[in-house]
Amino acid sequence: MAKKVLALYYTQTGQLADIVDQFTAPLIAAGASVEKLNIKPVNDFPFPWKSEVFFDAMPESVKGIPVELQPFSFKEEKYDLIIFAYQPWFLSPSIPATSMLKHEKVKQIMRDTPVITLSAGRNMWLNSQEKVKRLLADAKAKLVGNVALVDRHHNLVSVITIMHWAFGGKKDKYLGIFPRPGVSDEDIQNASEFGKIVLPYLQAAEWNGMQEKLVAAGGLEIKDDIMFIEERAGRLFDLWANAIYGKPGRAFKLLIYKYYLLVALFLVAPIVLTLNFLVFQWFFMGRNARQKLYYAGVTLKK
Ligand SMILES: Cc1cc2nc3c(=O)[nH]c(=O)nc-3n(C[C@H](O)[C@H](O)[C@H](O)COP(=O)(O)O)c2cc1C
Repeated sequence: MAKKVLALYYTQTGQLADIVDQFTAPLIAAGASVEKLNIKPVNDFPFPWKSEVFFDAMPESVKGIPVELQPFSFKEEKYDLIIFAYQPWFLSPSIPATSMLKHEKVKQIMRDTPVITLSAGRNMWLNSQEKVKRLLADAKAKLVGNVALVDRHHNLVSVITIMHWAFGGKKDKYLGIFPRPGVSDEDIQNASEFGKIVLPYLQAAEWNGMQEKLVAAGGLEIKDDIMFIEERAGRLFDLWANAIYGKPGRAFKLLIYKYYLLVALFLVAPIVLTLNFLVFQWFFMGRNARQKLYYAGVTLKK
């Protein structure tokens, strides 16, 4: 019997659709039946973004407030594997991704089913993956693998280029000198390699050892400096979201948040990272190594 695979995703730019296509190609070539479902909100987020709309997505992203999704249905009642492909927004799963994971139909189909998460973000996916892990656990899904593709350029370079992409709508070189934003074409093509790794595990319906293989093949990378920023920024984003969501003065507070974010990224983060590199990291080497191992895995901290 052909294995049944469901790939659920949302994408604004098409990047994640290309990655899902590459990832699933080896499964299809081996005879698996792969159903790909691009699920959209009833009121979709506009792309390219306008600045106010972009930052306005922060509180709901961080607090995991779902939106209504366009109607969808599954061909099968049960799948051998579900690939949940998503993008981080503000260190959280995007609002459409959260909406899927909180949708009764998705929770039902995921119950007791192996799930592989496949994300494509700028470079900060650790907090969002923790939130996704929790939502999968709520749905009683079995997370068996995770691949996280990112923009490999320097953190600040990727902030500039993603803004150019998000606000201009084109995945091209800003001013002709910056690199192209997002996941590189090479990494998108290479996503098929991860599909090849998954194939024998799908065929055997036995997932032990797969995540280690995906990590060894470059399915994700955890950098010390990004981990350092994310662990602190996640808590600060919670404070901002709580101060804004459902409270008066939303537009004004979001304007302040926008400038806070720019100052935090371009001024505070480089200083703090330098201090961490020179001083703090030496005291936390064991802890950091343990954290990295945890983030590279598929278990959820109690
Ligand atoms: C509102 C917004 C917030 C984002 N926040 C993050 C983030 O916190 N971390 C990250 O790695 N990427 C972030 N990104 C990049 C996206 O994860 C994604 O890679 C990019 O928007 C491509 O979109 P697509 O998958 O919808 O085609 C953000 C993008 C948007 C539009």
